[in-house]
Amino acid sequence: MDFFQNLNFSSSNEDGETELAALAGAGRILCLTGSGTRPLDLLMSDAEEIVALDVNPAQNALLALKVAAIESFERDEFLAFLGVSPSATRGTAYDRLRHCLSPAVRGYWDRRRALVEAGVWYAGKWEKLLRWNARFLRLFRGRALDALLAAPDVEEQAGLWGQKFGDNRLRAVIKLIGRDWIWRWVVREPGGAFLPPPRDVARRLASDFMRASRSFLFRDSDFAILIFRGAHQADGALPVHLRPENYQRIRERLSRLRIVEGGLADLGELDVGAIDGFSLSDFGSYCGTDLYSSCWKGVLDAAAPGAKFCERIFMNDMELPFAEIEEDRSLSKALSETDKAIIYRIRVGTITGKA
Ligand SMILES: C[S@@+](CC[C@H](N)C(=O)[O-])C[C@H]1O[C@@H](n2cnc3c(N)ncnc32)[C@H](O)[C@@H]1O
Repeated sequence: MDFFQNLNFSSSNEDGETELAALAGAGRILCLTGSGTRPLDLLMSDAEEIVALDVNPAQNALLALKVAAIESFERDEFLAFLGVSPSATRGTAYDRLRHCLSPAVRGYWDRRRALVEAGVWYAGKWEKLLRWNARFLRLFRGRALDALLAAPDVEEQAGLWGQKFGDNRLRAVIKLIGRDWIWRWVVREPGGAFLPPPRDVARRLASDFMRASRSFLFRDSDFAILIFRGAHQADGALPVHLRPENYQRIRERLSRLRIVEGGLADLGELDVGAIDGFSLSDFGSYCGTDLYSSCWKGVLDAAAPGAKFCERIFMNDMELPFAEIEEDRSLSKALSETDKAIIYRIRVGTITGKA
């Protein structure tokens, strides 16, 4: 199946705190849907509307399912429905909420009832890969991992990371992550086409994890937990919208979310109105320079004067293509240092006009 039809992201591999800080004050935010975590996290901002956009209808169907489930369930039931905590009754929970879904979304999930019953939180391609990664780590580094996640402070954590996870065998495995054939034939991810050479991928990941190990406790990062344990816990690190102190407010604000199908490059024709905050995730991971430029052109077409943006960059470093996009370098640096999703550089700034 085509990558942009498949369910690729289902839980969370970013850090919504960063987008909330970068886009504070925006009134209408456009956000790539992905797993749905980012648009739901952004409901904690004071924006009156969050437009969740994705070219992939499967990602939008997932967000619509999560919205219906948050409307229907208290937090504990929602976590059980997702699959974060155990449940034997997800099928009956789905029967309670499926009438709230549009016919297209209901059809999508009716055809995938087994995924709903297993819990959609780990149904994405990336979540499945991360679960395999965590099984592998448990097998070969189980005790070291327990010590790492129990470290009392970042100094001890960084020491443990250097001693137990910085060796050549693990580096060789990390280097595999950069191999084109792994992305093409094993992961089947189009982003592989835009990666730097394997040695650079390995070097960059090693340095990102080393830096992160000195900056924050891995056990406080929901993405680190997914990488190391392959699963979240209801009382552990979780994305912003799932935290107990935020859930009720998210629930009250669901009507601020609007889900739109389409690509960034088509934003000028999508009738989304003037947007003053853009949460763009790492769309550049899927772009050559021409498409990257077209996507930014779409963003500029929809941008209100002075709109803010927050972009994530994984491995595909590209120059901003228009002079009307002004980076705030010091804020980019500060947010890159505090972001708990480890593997991204954050680029933020302002859009000053049309291209
Ligand atoms: C950029 S990807 C990154 C995944 C991200 N870390 C997450 O968990 O959401 C997020 C979403 O953007 C969508 N996407 C990628 N390029 C896009 C584009 N040019 N226009 C609209 N959606 C796009 C993908 O389908 C994916 O669901």
